[in-house]
Amino acid sequence: MSVSDCFIIDFPKITDKRGNLSFIENNCHIPFAIKRVYYLYDVPAFAERGGHAHKHLTQVLIALSGSFDVHLDDGQHKKIVTLNKPWQGLLISNNVWRELKGFSSGSTCLVLASEYYVENDYYRDYVEFLHSMSV
Ligand code: TYD
Repeated sequence: MSVSDCFIIDFPKITDKRGNLSFIENNCHIPFAIKRVYYLYDVPAFAERGGHAHKHLTQVLIALSGSFDVHLDDGQHKKIVTLNKPWQGLLISNNVWRELKGFSSGSTCLVLASEYYVENDYYRDYVEFLHSMSV
């Protein structure tokens, strides 16, 4: 997997004078079954989240409010994606290092994950990640 396997997904957006509504249905709008949902909130502007890659897990990140930058790195290529639209998600495949930075005030990040939380699925050491990607 590489950064080119990471892409933006547009979710349905229903607009009327009361505001907007988007929805995500399991196995329909994203290419995996959702096993876990988590979210980041009250993130200080100086904070950096992520700083890891997953061995098997795929996930979709959504900026439900505010904005932040997602730095993607597969060991060979890098890409920065700014998320700031609640009707869009960024799919991040396995074996891609990600760092989340530049959180705006009050931003929230919703994450839809293909797997339950398993610490052993993480690369948390960048050098180890690079070594694993090169063999
Ligand atoms: P971490 O992976 O460092 O968060 P992020 O990548 O967003 O910066 O997770 C922070 C802590 O929360 C860590 O101790 C693991 C724990 N955690 C869970 O227990 N369950 C979960 O679903 C997640 C995502 C994290």
